[in-house]
Amino acid sequence: MLSQEEMKRAAGEYAAQLIKPGFVTGIGTGSTVYYFIHALAGRVKEGLDIKATVTSKQSATLAQELGIIITDLNNIDNIDITVDGADEVDNKLQLIKGGGGALLQEKMVAAASHRLVIIADDKKVVNRLGKFPLPVEVIPYGWKQTRKHIAGLNCTKIVLREKESIPFITDHGHYILDCHFEEIEDPRQLSIQLNSIPGVVENGLFINMASEIIIGKPDGSIHTISK
Ligand code: 5RP
Repeated sequence: MLSQEEMKRAAGEYAAQLIKPGFVTGIGTGSTVYYFIHALAGRVKEGLDIKATVTSKQSATLAQELGIIITDLNNIDNIDITVDGADEVDNKLQLIKGGGGALLQEKMVAAASHRLVIIADDKKVVNRLGKFPLPVEVIPYGWKQTRKHIAGLNCTKIVLREKESIPFITDHGHYILDCHFEEIEDPRQLSIQLNSIPGVVENGLFINMASEIIIGKPDGSIHTISK
């Protein structure tokens, strides 16, 4: 039986094989994507020619250390494929993302991508989204007002994310509110409601964005959920 870490690795390495020569490739963020970046860098060292863009400073640093050249999103028209992780996935390919705090850039890169491939271990698969607290990126100014509006959406608990006892700051200078909904009945509607609140920059619900989900299973196999 594979450990959770080994399942992440299996999914990441499998996804690296999907990248074809000449692909404009989006690189996600997180501990599963870590394995994807390593495997992709191995292929680049062997001569795979790609153009890459990233979803976070963390991934940019790792990719560059391993020899992948990063292009700014403004210098890219379309992304052929993006490989990213998720905190929860359901069998309709809806996602909760943002556990690593990179959801804003992740959603922008996903929206520019022809194909969004999600890699995950099988513990991330749920019947209904919501057990994982939904990350919502907010502007620091007046964030307590923003929190009040979010609380009005049947949210049971809202936690300002911290790192080393001070508010966690995203790559784009914002805060993250981790919002406990327990079960999200209508993810699309909630996403629209959240993004209508003044002060909300973006939320971690990725609705109808993923093309396929690659899941590393405990028995070492790979399971794919696709449209
Ligand atoms: C970062 C993300 C990550 O993709 C998500 O948190 C999954 O990360 P991991 O692979 O480490 O479990 O959305 O903002």
